[in-house]
Amino acid sequence: MSVMQKVVTTVARYMPDAARDPLSDASGYIGHPLSRVDGSVKVTGAARFAAEYAPEDLLYAVLVCSTIARGRIAGIDTTVAEANPGVVSILTHRNAPRMKRPSLFDVTGQGQGCAPSDLPVMQDDVIRWNGQPVAVVIARTLEEAEFAATLVAVNYASEPARVSFDEHKADAIVPGDVIGEPPEVRVGDAETALAAAAVSVDAVYRTPWYNHNAIEPHAATAVWTADDRLTIFDSTQATRRFAATLGEVFDVKAANVDVIAPFVGGAFGGKGGLWWNSVLCAAAAKAVKRPVRLSLSREQVYRVVGGRTIAEQRVALGATQRGALTALIHTCTTVTPDHARYAEQCTFPARHLYATENLFVGQKIVHLDTVANTWMRAPGESIGTFALESAIDELAYALTIDPIELRRINEPTTDPTKGTPFSSRALTDAYARGAQQFGWGERTLQPRSQRDGGWLVGQGVATAYYPAYRFPGRARVALHADGTAHVYAAAHEMGMGTATVQLQHAAERLGLPIDRLFFHYGDSALPDSPIAGGSCQTVSIVAAVQTAVDGLREQLVELARRQGGSLAAVTMANSELRSGGLCLADGSQGEPFTTILQRAGKERIEAEGAAPMPMEMFKYSMGSYGAQFCEVRVREDSGEIRVSRWLASMDCGRIVNPKTAESQIRGGIIMGIGMALSEETLYDTRTGRIMNPSLAEYHVPVNLDVPHIDVLFNDIPDPHSPLGAHGIGEIGITGVAASIANAVYSATGKRIRELPITLDKLL
Ligand code: MOS
Repeated sequence: MSVMQKVVTTVARYMPDAARDPLSDASGYIGHPLSRVDGSVKVTGAARFAAEYAPEDLLYAVLVCSTIARGRIAGIDTTVAEANPGVVSILTHRNAPRMKRPSLFDVTGQGQGCAPSDLPVMQDDVIRWNGQPVAVVIARTLEEAEFAATLVAVNYASEPARVSFDEHKADAIVPGDVIGEPPEVRVGDAETALAAAAVSVDAVYRTPWYNHNAIEPHAATAVWTADDRLTIFDSTQATRRFAATLGEVFDVKAANVDVIAPFVGGAFGGKGGLWWNSVLCAAAAKAVKRPVRLSLSREQVYRVVGGRTIAEQRVALGATQRGALTALIHTCTTVTPDHARYAEQCTFPARHLYATENLFVGQKIVHLDTVANTWMRAPGESIGTFALESAIDELAYALTIDPIELRRINEPTTDPTKGTPFSSRALTDAYARGAQQFGWGERTLQPRSQRDGGWLVGQGVATAYYPAYRFPGRARVALHADGTAHVYAAAHEMGMGTATVQLQHAAERLGLPIDRLFFHYGDSALPDSPIAGGSCQTVSIVAAVQTAVDGLREQLVELARRQGGSLAAVTMANSELRSGGLCLADGSQGEPFTTILQRAGKERIEAEGAAPMPMEMFKYSMGSYGAQFCEVRVREDSGEIRVSRWLASMDCGRIVNPKTAESQIRGGIIMGIGMALSEETLYDTRTGRIMNPSLAEYHVPVNLDVPHIDVLFNDIPDPHSPLGAHGIGEIGITGVAASIANAVYSATGKRIRELPITLDKLL
């Protein structure tokens, strides 16, 4: 068996390009619109992704997936497939390596599990969803494996499956928790207040299944370098948790599993859970004792990796004639199979956005025989804001109050359900700035009153909301006598600018020119960073780097004191890192750290640090906010919808890098346009089979569907968040669908409460 040469971790470095990034006139790195440091390797094709590592002796694995949703494998004949040229082995439940159940994803941060489902994979003959892997064909080439996979004959004993949401939603139950929060929250008596309200709205909103459709399909290349040592290149947003959970499944120590994710070609939550393809890739490599690559086809991503759940939500609002909310009810039912437990947090926005004395939010789940659902960009908040922010708009029309004014009237001063103060919240300011730049005041209030030839024109607005999470994490920072510095964290670069902003922060924190810095990431062997999810990565790593840099400064202070030169009186209290050295804070003395290291005869010093526990999340209500403004045009004769203008005015703490931040918000808005107008995963409710598992039939937005998008940031630092920053990976999609639905109402007078808003719903 071949031995995999340990591949160096991904290292990102800023390459000076004065024309593109005129850093000379920047006062600091934080807040500078630096271009992405990983940009050039990606556009030139030099970046290598998980399926592009080719260790010696590599074999290719292809999955065979079930074509029924529920039942048993009555027989499985692999003999014809095995006789084909190139086939090395075929795994089924009869001969697959014995594997343990993985732990489900644990949001408390204590456990390291990250499975979306705790099913043991290919360990028995039971079929639980249509698309479940039933065999793995391993061959010399991808083509041989793909062809042989078509020759595996499976006989199923089919049983009736639960697939239709409408048929089974009445069986919904209250889950134990919703990502660690109570499933129900009650303040006052919302139903009684609703019945007594002067003005009320009460409506049901429906959203379909969705899939992530990252451009890079899920892929892994696995190598067992010893019986109990696994190296796996995987397109994951959670290297450390993958290592821990793969360790559980194969009964080896987490430290013996090295998960390397050099670049990830989009994930959106779809690569945060350990799905069966990664497990089966490692199992195949173990079975044949050779390196194996398993890359899902686009169709198989739909079958093997879950997406966003279908959902039905009720929002009921009661208000006084002057617009003060007296009742807010938001309930929802979502789906999760009985081998998973993820209740999507649709009611989270309603817990934090509006002041009211009577509130009820409640979530239910219904078990269906589908692939496990999972997080998909702002899971819960994206579809939750569709319902809530549509209802607020409906109430505004019922009251004849401008929808922005209605939100201003009900802006809370403390968190409506937790009672805690807000760490930072300037949503009203974001609305005011956005309204001015968008020209909100120029629209007409009467629906269906604006026209441009055959097009009906309308404007909409909705609130964006996403919590500001921070998770515990670690980082290591090293200073070298050659004047460079290296930052190490098991972080993930999925295209959002992780490496870039971490270099900016570390350079500022160390007081070093940014081109002296190296950021090492994408490997579970590095210090423990959290999952790149929950929009937590930037601040989680920043907090750990701060601790590590403090540790480095302690070492420098100690060395400088012992050296007895101009810094003989330096202490932690009177010093700072600045201009490439250790300085007295009053600026009177300083020495380059290279001098301090050289005098001490040290090649390098390093410090590893853990971020303090994120206690601020308990003391304060911490969130990011925004106002999504849009204009749509609807063809009066055909119902065709075009989004013609977009402006997002965001309140997301301090912006570390406006260029990557605007990109994140734009990406979220584009995904939201898809969610609102064209995307939908279609299940055949008779068979539980996804009917449109391809980009030809699942319609993500393309360039012509997307208008120019203006993004404004309040850029107000949150005093309780590291660097004053918040994560911004997810908030961009929130509020988008409601803003579009509200604009469609403004244009046509038709209120569409079911996504996607396709033209048939407008005729
Ligand atoms: Mo995100 S849906 O937490 O990757």
